[in-house]
Amino acid sequence: MAGGGAMRSRITRTGRVLEDTFFKQAKAKGYVARSAFKLQEIQQKHKLISPGGAVLDLGCHPGAWLQVACESLGPTKRGGRVIGVDIQETRRPDKFCDDRVEIVQADARELGPEFWALHCPGGVDVVLSDMCHFTLGNSVADAFKSLDLARTAWGIATGGDNAASAEEQLELPWGAPGRGVLKPGGSLVMKILQGTGTQEFAAELRRDFTKVAWHRCKATRSESKEIFLLGLKRK
Ligand SMILES: C[S@@+](CC[C@H](N)C(=O)[O-])C[C@H]1O[C@@H](n2cnc3c(N)ncnc32)[C@H](O)[C@@H]1O
Repeated sequence: MAGGGAMRSRITRTGRVLEDTFFKQAKAKGYVARSAFKLQEIQQKHKLISPGGAVLDLGCHPGAWLQVACESLGPTKRGGRVIGVDIQETRRPDKFCDDRVEIVQADARELGPEFWALHCPGGVDVVLSDMCHFTLGNSVADAFKSLDLARTAWGIATGGDNAASAEEQLELPWGAPGRGVLKPGGSLVMKILQGTGTQEFAAELRRDFTKVAWHRCKATRSESKEIFLLGLKRK
């Protein structure tokens, strides 16, 4: 993990830090982005990804979470898989990723049951969403759009607003709109830019998860509204 402030940061004229300690440590260790440390921190605290598990990573470009997720699966002989989805074309990083990582270029908002039947036929143990739009600098609009993407991830994981009753779900295939792809006991991580509606969204998640928690990462820039909302242990 990153630590120590010995390395100096590059700062723009407006004061934005371009290459900070996390950026340099990511580069030195072979992670494709500093965001690797965010998932490492969440994983260290909550132990969401288990060796041999199945992970869906929404908004996976450029691939740092794919690297951390694949590392967390343990040795290849344990099995497991990571399915990454991003609108942008994404190359599988050479370091920390192996054949267990599959990447699909797609808009997560447009994926339907056929996609999930093909790519997650047995459901997954963890759904990660670091999805983020190109931010506009308007905090109200940015929070609204990020909430929309988090709701997309929730819908993919559990059916979200469209979830069927527990009994009906048992009759549905994984990935059906009423069931989602997340297995019972599995967890959901969503990036959110805090703003109107985020607390209400967290309250809605309690219907689906045994525990709902917030996590602000050390690698998140101090000026950012970013926070991760976690749904732990799907009911
Ligand atoms: C912060 S980056 C993800 C970084 C990634 N977790 C990593 O560690 O390398 C956010 C990503 O979300 C993707 N994204 C935004 N909206 C999306 C959507 N509707 N479907 C799929 N990906 C989306 C963007 O293309 C962008 O690559």
